[in-house]
Amino acid sequence: MRSSVASIKCISCGAAAKSELPDSLCAKCGSLLEIRYSLTRMSKKQLFGGRGPGIWRFKAALPFSTSIEPVSLNEGNTPLVLAENLPAAGSVGRLYFKNDGQNPTGSFKDRGMSVAMTRAKTLGARALVCASTGNTAASLAAYAAKARLPAVVVVPQGKIATGKLGQAFAYGARVFGVAGNFDAALNLVFELVKTHRDFYLVNSVNPFRIEGQKVAAFEIYEQLGEVPDYVVLPVGNAGNISALWKGFKELRLSGISRNLPRMIGVQAEGAAPIAEAVAKGGDVKPWPEPNTVASAIRIGSPVSWRKALAAIKESGGTALTVSDEEILQAREELATKEGLLVEAASAAPAAALKKLKLPARAKVVCIATGNGLKDLVDHGRQKEPEPVTTAEDVAKSMRF
Ligand code: F0G
Repeated sequence: MRSSVASIKCISCGAAAKSELPDSLCAKCGSLLEIRYSLTRMSKKQLFGGRGPGIWRFKAALPFSTSIEPVSLNEGNTPLVLAENLPAAGSVGRLYFKNDGQNPTGSFKDRGMSVAMTRAKTLGARALVCASTGNTAASLAAYAAKARLPAVVVVPQGKIATGKLGQAFAYGARVFGVAGNFDAALNLVFELVKTHRDFYLVNSVNPFRIEGQKVAAFEIYEQLGEVPDYVVLPVGNAGNISALWKGFKELRLSGISRNLPRMIGVQAEGAAPIAEAVAKGGDVKPWPEPNTVASAIRIGSPVSWRKALAAIKESGGTALTVSDEEILQAREELATKEGLLVEAASAAPAAALKKLKLPARAKVVCIATGNGLKDLVDHGRQKEPEPVTTAEDVAKSMRF
């Protein structure tokens, strides 16, 4: 876990990747790349005692020299909130939500974007590009602004949350829409970086994104004082489940923790290729027409499926589906019972808890991946204020 001995390797054929643009798929076999370290044991002090903005206090576990100047907006260090009022909170030992909606642009993407942007600068990228269901676009746009580099985002036209699209424009990105779903947008972007070497790809196939996102595992360990029994999170393109698993594995390899959590991926019923593969066995088969109200995870061909299946299998976890109705109900419950406003996709784990039947003493961490302000106008059930003229009207309405 030392930056100086990191290398980029293909997870399937083992080929070493060159340190050059665009940090995409393996040039030899097309599989996923991963950053590997010649692991040395690390003390808690070495890992947790570092200094730096945002996730960069964990520089000792990131693939850069210590003199690197990170592109950071103080991402990470998000609260771990104990749930006390949800029915599911009473059926397990302790239930927490890692509120990654409190990141600078309101989603977990900022963790990885900080690292990818830092890498892009060291490689001399001239423009950054991603396909996105909304959050990656917002995050890229902000970090590119900070790095003074142009950002290009490609989104499925008409299919991303209003707030996220507004963010991408607000931070000054060039925004393109494809007629089709996220998978079509990602194919277009892959095509672009294959032929135009000036672009740096910051989708989660980029192994540097994963390095930033793995830091959430370190924070959870630090906040709990131990590794949880279960980590439950929404799965779309499958980068985040891979990243958290990598983080927990590195905690163990460094000798800091002995345990590992079980990783539980949650998908929407209408976009569930990973859950299908877990149920049936075998490889992931793409779904041509994914559909769900949780637009962030409306993905039919998850590019990081190999890593996600490995995380689920190695950890003894599982994947399951929840309906759109269950997602929206869980979203409302999180807001009205716990004061946590998350976007639709981020409510999927809370919906899944009702079906999972986890052990009564289990310590469970759900990842609240995105802020509910982003899609409030899309399905926040907007109500009108009740008209009122006197103070007495308000007092009467309460019927104590
Ligand atoms: N939750 C939210 C709020 C997301 O935005 C995403 C993915 C996920 C969960 C799933 O994470 O893809 O790593 O499995 N959003 C991507 C985007 C695809 O473009 O913003 P994953």
